[in-house]
Parts: sequence; structure tokens; C-alpha cells
Amino acid sequence: MSAPGNIPHHIAIVMDGNGRWATRRFLPRVAGHKKGVDALRACVRHCGDIGVKVLTVFAFSSENWNRPAEEVSGLMELLALALSREVPQLQSEGVRIHFIGERAGLSDKVRNGLAQAEAATAGNDRLVFNICFNYGGRWDIAQAAARLAARGEAVTEQSMDRAMALAHVPDPDLLIRTGGEQRISNFLLWQAAYSELYFTDKLWPEFDAAAIDEAIADYAGRERRFGRTSEQVAAPAGAKRKAA
Ligand code: IPE
Ligand code: IPE
Ligand code: MG
Repeated sequence: MSAPGNIPHHIAIVMDGNGRWATRRFLPRVAGHKKGVDALRACVRHCGDIGVKVLTVFAFSSENWNRPAEEVSGLMELLALALSREVPQLQSEGVRIHFIGERAGLSDKVRNGLAQAEAATAGNDRLVFNICFNYGGRWDIAQAAARLAARGEAVTEQSMDRAMALAHVPDPDLLIRTGGEQRISNFLLWQAAYSELYFTDKLWPEFDAAAIDEAIADYAGRERRFGRTSEQVAAPAGAKRKAA
């Protein structure tokens, strides 16, 4: 396995392109989502193997309810099925699952599947795997603000950070979107403030370990300045000066 250097601590992915993958093969869209689960399984494994510590994936957005009812129910079924099938393997790989999203609106079956997967993997710490399902970045910001308001807590960047759905992990270093679109689609609006963005035309079912390595190699060549100048990044203040 040729893992590139400078591995991002946290990778977030908009797994897009399942529908087109299926349509190009004259298959129903749900067949693309099934293939997407295979790609995700391999992605989780590879990320764990190369030392990524947090993987956050966008599996169903607040807006995906607008899709045809048949596709929505297919996606719900698929999540429940994948959770029940995959958890033992994820368990053995040291993966800890977190469900990120609005629980209201999900069926008992899906909610229970997510809760069971979280409970079963709660003792693992090799890779934190956040599944964003019925998630929207705007929902997340609004629910965090509502929580602070209910507690009478002042709204600051720090208190918001603590109230957001991803409070248990640092912000993503690298945000990947497959499928060719160059947009955020209401994913991590707050947390992606300084993520490096990587867009690829590859459709999600085709996004394999080599494609992950390619994205990481691209990331490794970026200079993350966080508002500073390039010169400051090269020689941070406080770095020891050479004796004259
Ligand atoms: C992403 O693939 C998966 C979900 C949104 C659930 P799409 O289903 O959006 O695939 P395309 O964009 O139609 O190809
Ligand atoms: C974003 O993909 C959501 C997920 C991958 C779950 P979409 O396919 O729903 O995004 P838009 O609608 O093309 O922006
Ligand atoms: Mg799409």
C-alpha cells in the first residue's frame, strides 16, 4: 500500500455520482447507491490503514427528501441493511461510528440501526467514522444556536463549536467531492471554513483506494495559511532564529 505523506487527520467526503453511475449502465439509481456502499466500505478500510483518524461522509442531505419516494425509501433501506451487515467488520477494524444529523423524521428502524451501530462501536478509537444522514449544514448551525439559546449561553465561536454536531472532532483538513460538481450542497458549512477542497470527476462508486491516495497527494502539496502570509508559514513567529 503506497500511502502518501502528510496524511490529513480528518477527511470529509460528499459521496456524489451514484445515480449517474447506475444510469450509464442502464441500471436503476438504487443500484448505484448499492455500489456506493461497496466504495464506502473500501474507503473506510483504506483510511484506517493509512492513518486517517476521522472520516466524515455525507450520505443523505436534508434536501434529499425531495427525491422520488422510491429512491428515498431505497436509501433508507440500504442504510439500515448496511449498518446491520457491516458493523461486525467495522468493529474488528477499530472503527467508531457516530450518527450526525436530525433524528426526527427518520423511521424507528433507521434510528435504531444507527443507535445500535453507535453503541456497538463506542469502545473503538482507531478511526472515527461520522455518517451524516438527514444532515444539513444550516440545520447544524441552527440547532447549535437553539441549544445555546435554550441554555441561556452566550453565542461565541467557541460555544457554537461545542454545540455543533461534530464537536467531538477537529474540523476537516480535506473535503473531497466526487461526481464532478463543484459545490458544497449544504454539507459542513461551519466546519469547512478552512478545509482544503478537492473536486474530482470520478463518480463515487469508482472512487477507490488509489483515488483517495491521489486526493491526499494533492492535499499534501497545498500550503495552508489560515490567513497568514506564505513567509510567516515558512518561518513561524517564535521559531528560533539562527545565531548571527
Ligand atoms: C450521491 O449520489 C448519493 C446521495 C445523494 C444519496 P447521487 O444519487 O446524487 O448521484 P447523482 O449525482 O445523481 O449521479
Ligand atoms: C449531496 O449530493 C448530498 C450527498 C452526497 C448525500 P446531491 O447530489 O444531493 O447534491 P446536489 O443536489 O446535486 O447539489
Ligand atoms: Mg448527486
